[in-house]
Amino acid sequence: MIRVLVTGCHGLLGQKLVEVFSPDDCELHGLDIHPENWFEGRAQYHYHKQDITERAAVLDMVRTIRPKVIVNTAAMTAIDACEVERERCWAVNVRGVENLVHAARRVGARVIHLSNEDVFDGNAGPYTELDRVNPVSYFGKSKHASENVVLGGGVQGAVARSAMLFGHGRRLKTGFIPWIVTRLREKRDVKVVTDQISNVTLVDDLARAIKRMVALNRSGIYHVASRDVISRFDFAVRIAKAYNYPSTSIIPTLSSLLDQTVQRPLQGGLIVEKAERDLNLRFATVDEGLMIYRQQEAGFN
Ligand SMILES: NC(=O)c1ccc[n+]([C@@H]2O[C@H](COP(=O)([O-])OP(=O)(O)OC[C@H]3O[C@@H](n4cnc5c(N)ncnc54)[C@H](OP(=O)(O)O)[C@@H]3O)[C@@H](O)[C@H]2O)c1
Repeated sequence: MIRVLVTGCHGLLGQKLVEVFSPDDCELHGLDIHPENWFEGRAQYHYHKQDITERAAVLDMVRTIRPKVIVNTAAMTAIDACEVERERCWAVNVRGVENLVHAARRVGARVIHLSNEDVFDGNAGPYTELDRVNPVSYFGKSKHASENVVLGGGVQGAVARSAMLFGHGRRLKTGFIPWIVTRLREKRDVKVVTDQISNVTLVDDLARAIKRMVALNRSGIYHVASRDVISRFDFAVRIAKAYNYPSTSIIPTLSSLLDQTVQRPLQGGLIVEKAERDLNLRFATVDEGLMIYRQQEAGFN
């Protein structure tokens, strides 16, 4: 039985990881900053309330658990907040990762760390793992620094870069799909950009890929995302189709016409061939992902 520590276990991806690691072959430890255990009663599961920025406490905790693998999904993920709350962003996204890597080194644990397509500037995507990074936002810079912490930290480490996740979970922050669906249901126009292009990824696929990375002892950088690279506008149109709404109220616009203060990669996206080949997985297309999302919906309403 393998012992795995998942940090950020109450987040969108963390919750899905708690679902995919089976109690039959995995003793799972979840870490998050919230006081209560959201998975009370789950077999082979232990919850730890812990802030990853607290270095000594993280080391103590990891020494007690002695995980074989640490999967780090804990992060400050709001890109606009990261731009203004830079100290907090760096503390969580970089120093927090240093703390986990330091603790992992002490107990000989492997680390799988989540990163983001925002390490690229979005001038010439989609990108492979070998392409040069050049983050344009503070969030992207923090994620790039965190990758270096893991890959140069003296542990067996892997970085899984992904892009725009969607999926169901408890108490999630509002996502792109609920926003579009609400507007369509209310027959209100919604402006969506045609010039921000990336993968849109079913979180279930990402969680499965990470589980496979654990099982196969993978290290290095992997791009793990849906197969399709599309614009936000195209995604909104496909959402309308999946929900049987006309897409006429989805109005195309450009990023330069929105008042987004933080620059986002425009021509972004990740090429996922390496992950599909090495992990022997096939990621869902956007339409397949949306179909699964809809099928799961009943369980979360
Ligand atoms: N979501 C995406 O579209 C996307 C795309 C590509 C890559 N990723 C990467 O995947 C990872 C997970 O993303 P996600 O969307 O699942 O994030 P999320 O929903 O924001 O989950 C992160 C979890 O970590 C917790 N957390 C924050 N600061 C912490 C700290 N100091 N100590 C312990 N826990 C802390 C959060 O609690 P609070 O919610 O209370 O802050 C939350 O429960 C991130 O590294 C992200 O960069 C995400």
